Amino acid sequence: DGTLRGVVAVDGPSGTGKSTTARGLAVRLGARYLDTGAMYRAVTLAVLRAGVPVDVAATVSDGHDDVAAVALGARLEVSTDPAEPRVRLDGEDVGAEIRGSEVTAAVSAVSALTAVRRHLVDEQRRIVRAALDDGTGIVVEGRDIGTVVVPDADLKIFLTASELVRAGRRDAENTAAGRETRPDTRADIARRDRLDSSRAASPLRPADDAVEVDTSTLDIDGVLARLQDLAEDRGLVT
Ligand code: DC
Repeated sequence: DGTLRGVVAVDGPSGTGKSTTARGLAVRLGARYLDTGAMYRAVTLAVLRAGVPVDVAATVSDGHDDVAAVALGARLEVSTDPAEPRVRLDGEDVGAEIRGSEVTAAVSAVSALTAVRRHLVDEQRRIVRAALDDGTGIVVEGRDIGTVVVPDADLKIFLTASELVRAGRRDAENTAAGRETRPDTRADIARRDRLDSSRAASPLRPADDAVEVDTSTLDIDGVLARLQDLAEDRGLVT
């Protein structure tokens, strides 16, 4: 297999297979991998641990200075090895805890805050630059990678899938991880989509030059093959 040069942005809502796909692509192409959702989740965990109340239904971009202060003060370490993508909060591996239901319920509200986004986007750009300076390609996954974080990415993918398919995948993921499945995953997904797409700061939307890939009827290998083809067609694999 060849090696990736440059930046591949993978955006889209949850349940589209984004993490599995982005990470798998990085493994295949000897690239680094950055899960920006994990960063929003980790600072959300810091806020919850600090006991600062979060209005989970809020998508305001300003105010909540107490929430932003904790989020900005959180000490995050992110590894970009796709074989072992770790997130540490104050030195502690929080990879499992950040996928739990408390963090999942609060993360949209925390990630809507402009101050939080500005801070994490800076951090994400630093991580991308470090990989490129190392001569390594990087696959970056999130909601605003192609629109905000790396607007000059070499390839922008926007993954979609029907709500029903996405809900089924989320349930399977929770079961596989030994977590309880939610009573109404589909409503949860619809709610989070609405919050993520309607917020004022960097709403979820495809970049104008993104390639949309519908994963409803593709398995992971099918999606990976399609992405690898796109990267090769762009001359990004050498
Ligand atoms: O991909 P995920 O489910 O782990 O993302 C968690 C939350 O973080 C999601 O509700 C939207 C937010 N997020 C974001 O606002 N911007 C990103 N680049 C990545 C995630």
